[in-house]
Amino acid sequence: MWVRTPTEIKRQRRRKAHACWDHLIIAPLWPMHGANLGTLLRTCDAVGACLAVPRLPWVPTALEIGNTLRKPSCVHWVNNPIRWLQAQRASAEIVGVELTDESVRLAFLQPARRRTVAVLGNERTGIPPEATELLDLAVEIPMVGTGMSLNVAVAGSLVAYKLSGLV
Ligand SMILES: C[S@@+](CC[C@H](N)C(=O)[O-])C[C@H]1O[C@@H](n2cnc3c(N)ncnc32)[C@H](O)[C@@H]1O
Repeated sequence: MWVRTPTEIKRQRRRKAHACWDHLIIAPLWPMHGANLGTLLRTCDAVGACLAVPRLPWVPTALEIGNTLRKPSCVHWVNNPIRWLQAQRASAEIVGVELTDESVRLAFLQPARRRTVAVLGNERTGIPPEATELLDLAVEIPMVGTGMSLNVAVAGSLVAYKLSGLV
């Protein structure tokens, strides 16, 4: 097995950040912990997605601290999450990443064939009911352990990879 060197890996990466592709948007719209936003921003860069975050006073600083990327990333600023989601429905499929009775398992989630918004819930309370009503589809990451749920950045990253078609 040949392990690639940092130089070889660097050569395979993009030299410049790409413009907003606006095809896959990862949307932690009710965040509580800034560290999760930084982690999700990094995943977005890796899979060619955009990050949509609420315009809360602490979020820009959290992104600055959590973002370890050298190049700028695509961030969509959302003033009102519910109204924003309602507007997205006209031009995107809305996929909720959530444990619901109607969720499909991650293994059955197909790569995004059209513009897709993946909505993530609050670390404590999940996706609010008024947003659940706006979902076209919900996806669940199966778990066999004792924990009730995954960390939101982990859940969002797994779904982002699946929707991007890279795995
Ligand atoms: C820590 S969980 C919130 C759990 C919350 N206690 C609840 O009852 O809804 C935060 C978010 O991570 C995502 N999440 C965590 N584990 C998940 C799983 N196994 N499948 C799908 N989404 C998950 C969801 O978006 C969820 O809203």
